[in-house]
Amino acid sequence: MPADEYIVEMRHITKRFPGIVANDDISLGIKKGEIFALLGENGAGKSTLMSMLFGMYEPDEGEIYIRGKRERISSPNHATRLNIGMVHQHFKLVSNYTIAENIILGIEPKKMAGLFPVVDIKGTNEKVAALSRQYGLEVDPTARIENVNVSTQQRVEILKMLYREAEILIFDEPTAVLTPQEIEFLLQIIRGLRDQGKTIILITHKLEEIKQVADRCAILNRGKLIDVLDVASTTTQTMANLMVGREVDFTVTKSPAQFGPEVLRVEHLTVKNADGFPVVKDVSFTVKAGEIFAIAGVSGNGQTEIADAVAGMLPAAEGSITMDGADVTHASVRERSDLGLSYIPEDRQSVGLVLDFPLSDNLALKNYYKPPFCQKGILDHAAFEAYAEKLAETYDVRSGQGVRTITRSMSGGNQQKAIIAREIELSSKLMIFVQPTRGLDIGAIENIHRQIITERNKGRAVLLISLELDEIMGLADTIGVIFSGQMLKIAPAETMTTNEVGQYMMGVKQA
Ligand SMILES: Nc1ncnc2c1ncn2[C@@H]1O[C@H](COP(=O)(O)OP(=O)(O)OP(=O)(O)O)[C@@H](O)[C@H]1O
Ligand SMILES: [Mg+2]
Repeated sequence: MPADEYIVEMRHITKRFPGIVANDDISLGIKKGEIFALLGENGAGKSTLMSMLFGMYEPDEGEIYIRGKRERISSPNHATRLNIGMVHQHFKLVSNYTIAENIILGIEPKKMAGLFPVVDIKGTNEKVAALSRQYGLEVDPTARIENVNVSTQQRVEILKMLYREAEILIFDEPTAVLTPQEIEFLLQIIRGLRDQGKTIILITHKLEEIKQVADRCAILNRGKLIDVLDVASTTTQTMANLMVGREVDFTVTKSPAQFGPEVLRVEHLTVKNADGFPVVKDVSFTVKAGEIFAIAGVSGNGQTEIADAVAGMLPAAEGSITMDGADVTHASVRERSDLGLSYIPEDRQSVGLVLDFPLSDNLALKNYYKPPFCQKGILDHAAFEAYAEKLAETYDVRSGQGVRTITRSMSGGNQQKAIIAREIELSSKLMIFVQPTRGLDIGAIENIHRQIITERNKGRAVLLISLELDEIMGLADTIGVIFSGQMLKIAPAETMTTNEVGQYMMGVKQA
């Protein structure tokens, strides 16, 4: 095919970071008006490749052609002038600005107020509202980012691209943070954009999404391009096998549960949000040793607040929390952790990790003050590194410079794997997993699911919170369904069908 049939063409692109070749001689072409998916394991080099197209890095070797013309894309502004837009894996919005202000940031429309140019806020709000109507991406232009949910923030990121008249739209794992309903909506939006002639590049770990919307799919493995496939004629199993480099098994096998003594007891728990409004209302449940208790629910129904309250990150307004017989309702986070609590939080970047610390420090964040890491008040860095080496190996945490890698530079999925490694390795009696597999590739998900079951078989009590119904149905021994802050139903997993759980989640069915 002649080069000018491609709106984007990358030729022999290589990008190295200290200790790693993130992209190794990659050549591919993307056609105007197609949805082109990028698939690959965590750390395969997907975000890096697209960051170069968006001008955040320059390739060490190779050339990029846009609309048949060679371009050195030196900055995101330059990419914007080439009508390229990107929604990043971790959003880049200013939280105390309004939606409209975020959208115009850097290209503020000015009008004259007397002798001085000022930003035309009213005009902007109107323009943003019109744009949002045109694309079916409803937002309130005057709302502040800090007060809107992730799905709205993502709409803002999309509107930001459209406001800049992007024709080539890059989405880096846009569905990782969304609920199933929001995902359906986003995929529709993406299809709509394609139908209007835009070119879409979609990075995702979810094979069904690729199957649903993409025309072609490139598969990366450890920096190399493995293949570019026609999606319609390829099965998801083939895609999975190609990307992981082995046969992937999607089924979760689980032996019958053997419950031991009660480890967690939550009684009449009420949790309030910052405005004093109850988001968890009079919730009671118990989790036993050897039990996976999963809370199913649509995002925003109070499930993360339950996890935060049990972990000590949020105060209980009413009710009590008992761990292993001890009342921990008012205990500090560290007291709970010392009693045997592991916590994999929802927000890996702001709660789970110190991004500017090396991987080795992050892996010891929960026990750095104990031997062997700390002796007589002195930290032993060799002990940190030895421990981290072992964890990185066991949990397959990949990074450029091993355990000395600054965590911020690690790929999103590998950051998540690091948190999981740290928390599982504590061998705590109680383990709370909130969205543990978000952003992980299918091979890594398979591993984490196995590890969760292994911990349960060892007699740990597991509290699992997930928006993925498949994950809940596959792992749970007991399912609690939360709706609007209330636990509508608690039952053994084998007594409930996916459909029933779904109905409780929507509040349609009452216990
Ligand atoms: N700024 C950087 N400095 C050093 N190393 C980096 C940097 N950015 C990426 N890397 C490394 O390059 C490799 C590829 O990372 P990249 O973020 O492109 O992976 P990915 O395919 O997007 O993975 P994920 O699915 O986890 O998001 C990783 O090993 C990562 O640690
Ligand atoms: Mg990435």
